[in-house]
Amino acid sequence: MRFSKDLAKRLRFDLFPRKDFFRRRYRLVGTIVAIAGVVVWVLLTVTLRQRQYLPGPVSQNHATFGGRCEVCHTSFQNVRNAACEECHGKRVHSTFEQRTPECRDCHVEHRGAAALLTIGAQPCVECHGNLVTTNPHPLIQTSIATFAAHPQFAPLREGVLDTAALRFNHKLHLTSDKVVNEKLTCASCHEQEVKGRLMRPIVFATHCQRCHKQEVTGVGEDGSDGLPIAIEARHDTPELIRPDLMAKLVVAAVDHPEIFEAQNSMLPGIRTRAPADASRTLQDYRAKWIERLERELYEPFRDQQPLLEHNKRCFLCHGQKGTRASGDLPIVVKTGIPARWLTRGEFSHGRHELLSCATCHGNVERSSATADTNLPPREICQQCHVDGSPQSARTTCMTCHLYHDTSKDPLVRRDRRKEVRLETIKSQ
Ligand code: HEC
Ligand code: HEC
Ligand code: HEC
Ligand code: HEC
Ligand code: HEC
Ligand code: HEC
Ligand code: HEC
Ligand code: HEC
Ligand code: HEC
Ligand code: HEC
Repeated sequence: MRFSKDLAKRLRFDLFPRKDFFRRRYRLVGTIVAIAGVVVWVLLTVTLRQRQYLPGPVSQNHATFGGRCEVCHTSFQNVRNAACEECHGKRVHSTFEQRTPECRDCHVEHRGAAALLTIGAQPCVECHGNLVTTNPHPLIQTSIATFAAHPQFAPLREGVLDTAALRFNHKLHLTSDKVVNEKLTCASCHEQEVKGRLMRPIVFATHCQRCHKQEVTGVGEDGSDGLPIAIEARHDTPELIRPDLMAKLVVAAVDHPEIFEAQNSMLPGIRTRAPADASRTLQDYRAKWIERLERELYEPFRDQQPLLEHNKRCFLCHGQKGTRASGDLPIVVKTGIPARWLTRGEFSHGRHELLSCATCHGNVERSSATADTNLPPREICQQCHVDGSPQSARTTCMTCHLYHDTSKDPLVRRDRRKEVRLETIKSQ
């Protein structure tokens, strides 16, 4: 017979296992783990400072002080512009912007040196895709999302002319057989400046003088004789040309005493002996000849005159300001040849020097007026700078623009760009 007592004896009442070591001493263990954690944390903080949190090392540019996280980070806050500006100074993109973006939106820290300065189109398009500006009269197009949909460059827009006040005819100089002494090429007048971005300015002495010598002899309007030797006028303002001519007249008189002594008589071909004309004193002599020499330089050039005989005249090339009262010196209009056309972009000739000039300036040989703007339109750039094509030259906004416009002077701005030569990129 089975008694319930026996059955009951077989039942186990210790259903819960005996507490093991850890369960029994959980408070102690917990405390030890916590203390160990704090100790490790303190050790790491002491030895590695705060680098145990690092998502990636601080970029190389910042490595020298990268250990001092606090120069950029404040606890429980995103890195603020003020921290960066502490070292880099305040930076202005546009005084018309509606909000100031965060430095970290564009410059990614802890992802290596490249990430710090590789900025895609996105941060720019965020504003320029649909630009809101505080400028009541926006100076620029307000919708630019890609280079493919980029507005035409300002100097290439309908009706914009080259306003330089210097007469120059590319077609004539490059193709006319009247230019006999040499074959002119682009390089005869346009050389890259040292930085390789722009062309050097045109200089009369280097690029024009050898064919357009300003030699004057003071031949009278009536065909009366001039000086027996030609005097070359200095190329400068009329105020400075006058004393220079005066000095050269004296030198000429020393070298050629016959200037003082001989003169045409009334009888053709027969010369009377001294004294020459009315100029007995040096002062008379200079006053008379300076007038004749200056007339030869400053009489305006008229189109029907044979060109080559008048190519010394200032106003063959220059404009004259106002009309000149007799006796006054003329005023030469400032030439105003633009040093830079695309003032809002950072184009560089050096980067494109493997290309022929005609790739981008194909119209020059057919251009006969200064007013022609022989610059490449956007479509020519888009043959190589193609959005979305893997073989393309770069098309991010940063390729052609600076963001931190610390100078409105493009000549200063361009020095700030990093140089990447075309050959390097082609060989990669
Ligand atoms: C030159 C400035 C600079 C220095 C120095 C720097 N950081 Fe940063 N760090 C940044 C920027 C910018 C971010 C991007 C996120 C943000 O705005 O907080 C960032 C992000 C981080 C993040 C990720 C936080 C998040 O919000 O995604 C951690 C963690 C971090 N940094 C740790 C450190 C530590 C640790 C150090 C020191 C060894 C350090 N950083 C030094 C600029 C810096
Ligand atoms: C303690 C000073 C300091 C702070 C703070 C600092 N930087 Fe710099 N930064 C430097 C120095 C030094 C260089 C390296 C010198 C150089 O390249 O001009 C540099 C380089 C850079 C460069 C690369 C410049 C180049 O021409 O290659 C960028 C971009 C930059 N910092 C952005 C930032 C941003 C964004 C912040 C804020 C998150 C920041 N920096 C905070 C000192 C600082
Ligand atoms: C909308 C994107 C953008 C923002 C926001 C931005 N940058 Fe830049 N940053 C650029 C671009 C693009 C370049 C490279 C071309 C240039 O120099 O303008 C650059 C270049 C730099 C350089 C290296 C060249 C130089 O001018 O010295 C530094 C340093 C720099 N930025 C610091 C900063 C700091 C500091 C801030 C925040 C106050 C900031 N940037 C905010 C886009 C940005
Ligand atoms: C926070 C908004 C904002 C961001 C981000 C921004 N821009 Fe601008 N940008 C402006 C404003 C506003 C103007 C001035 C508009 C005006 O003149 O009315 C401007 C003007 C310009 C101009 C014309 C400058 C001139 O000389 O007149 C260029 C080029 C330009 N931005 C390029 C860029 C590039 C490249 C980036 C990205 C690296 C960028 N912008 C990011 C707001 C922004
Ligand atoms: C004899 C000198 C001379 C030669 C040769 C010459 N140029 Fe010019 N070029 C000038 C002068 C002077 C100017 C400035 C006057 C003006 O704006 O037209 C100028 C201006 C330019 C401009 C500025 C935009 C414009 O049309 O005004 C371009 C582009 C140009 N030249 C390209 C060329 C190319 C390409 C060649 C070769 C096919 C060439 N030039 C040959 C003298 C020359
Ligand atoms: C290699 C010689 C040579 C050089 C260098 C040269 N020219 Fe000329 N230029 C000529 C000749 C030749 C003529 C006259 C052609 C004729 O008789 O029609 C001329 C004519 C002109 C004319 C009148 C053209 C017209 O269409 O009315 C101007 C203006 C002119 N040159 C300006 C310049 C300027 C500016 C420079 C320097 C940037 C320059 N030239 C350099 C040879 C040259
Ligand atoms: C064959 C064409 C030619 C002739 C002729 C010529 N010049 Fe020039 N002149 C130039 C060129 C090219 C420049 C340089 C353009 C520049 O500096 O912007 C120049 C520059 C000047 C300048 C500086 C202009 C400025 O804007 O800063 C003055 C002043 C000047 N010439 C005066 C004269 C005078 C006076 C004469 C006559 C004695 C003369 N030129 C004859 C082509 C000519
Ligand atoms: C391949 C070179 C190139 C690229 C890429 C490029 N631009 Fe431009 N951008 C230029 C040139 C060149 C100008 C004309 C400058 C001028 O007219 O003075 C210009 C002009 C501008 C202007 C002034 C427009 C106006 O109305 O005058 C703005 C704003 C501008 N670009 C923004 C951008 C933005 C944003 C991006 C990126 C989506 C970008 N650009 C990409 C070359 C480029
Ligand atoms: C990839 C296209 C391209 C090629 C190739 C090119 N140019 Fe240009 N050129 C331009 C652009 C864009 C400008 C306007 C740049 C500016 O003024 O901001 C320019 C401007 C000029 C100017 C006006 C002055 C200046 O520097 O801004 C002259 C002169 C000139 N180019 C001559 C030449 C000559 C000579 C060659 C051949 C050796 C040449 N270019 C090759 C695109 C080109
Ligand atoms: C025949 C092809 C070709 C044409 C046309 C061309 N480019 Fe480029 N360009 C290149 C190549 C290749 C590079 C170097 C690779 C790169 O930067 O992506 C380059 C680089 C550049 C750069 C960067 C320069 C630097 O400092 O790093 C600018 C800005 C630029 N081009 C503007 C222009 C503009 C503006 C035009 C039109 C007037 C133009 N390009 C026409 C091929 C071309």
